[in-house]
Amino acid sequence: MTDTGAGRRPDPASGPAALPDEAALAEAGLRLEIDGAVATVTLDRPERRNAMTLATWRGLAALGRSLPRGVRVVVLRGAGPSFSAGIDLALFSGGGEGFPDASDGDAADRFIAELQEGFTWLRRPDVVTVAAVQGHAIGAGFQLALACDIRVLADDARFCMKEPALGLVPDLTGTKPLVDLVGVHRALELCLTARTVLAGEAARLGLAETVVPREELDTAVADLVTALLAVHPGAAVATKRLLLEAPGNTLEEQCAAERREQIGRLRELFG
Ligand code: CAA
Repeated sequence: MTDTGAGRRPDPASGPAALPDEAALAEAGLRLEIDGAVATVTLDRPERRNAMTLATWRGLAALGRSLPRGVRVVVLRGAGPSFSAGIDLALFSGGGEGFPDASDGDAADRFIAELQEGFTWLRRPDVVTVAAVQGHAIGAGFQLALACDIRVLADDARFCMKEPALGLVPDLTGTKPLVDLVGVHRALELCLTARTVLAGEAARLGLAETVVPREELDTAVADLVTALLAVHPGAAVATKRLLLEAPGNTLEEQCAAERREQIGRLRELFG
């Protein structure tokens, strides 16, 4: 299996890489603001409904590699009426130009793994990631929201896993969280009909932690960020690590993981 580097922090010895500059981010359709412990990443092509290109996903991966150490919360949001209309359909207009030759399986595997890196780092335990979703989140846009720890939806949010309708599978790390959240059978129904899920249903299915009126989205996210930052930083990291492990563990393994993390906490708190 290809190692995508999921969940890894940047090498502590060398520290994070340099942040991409504003021009590189703009080229990728991204904007970044860092305010103390909070990084806000904005998908910033509203005139294209924040459709994402290969550069967007590579830009997201670069942000993951270069996030300053003090950042504890990352908010992902979209400028304009939609969170994201998914892959930029212009990528398909050249008959797959820009994509690797799929007959070279290894090269194609590496190519997709590199793009997935733009999504996998959002699971890293040293940050809590929040998707603030308004309007459409389609295909890759839905998968980006799924890659985050917490989804706050405006009441006009709409999710759609469009890939199978276009002859593709969802391959930007979305199938695992989708199945974890809604179960295999509901995930199958959603993907194989490529139907749109409105905010209310998304909340009922567990695809959203909160739904708020559209005009309250920014305030709701700001309040959530404040609450997340109020928790002890070390305990937050250890607890996220513990919770992410839980679905793959037996009860016995999870009890052992709780002991291990708590011993780490006790050492830090009481020496
Ligand atoms: N790629 C490129 N351009 C897009 C786009 C996309 N995915 N989505 C919207 N745009 C462009 C439109 O072409 C339009 O451009 P013009 O002003 O030049 O005409 C502009 O953005 C505004 O779009 P609309 O007028 O359609 O805006 P709307 O608010 O009425 O509708 C929408 C928004 C429902 C998202 C609609 O634009 C839409 O259905 N877009 C296509 C969504 C799609 O099929 N995405 C692919 C998902 S699959 C995926 O993501 C696959 C993968 O990763 C492998």
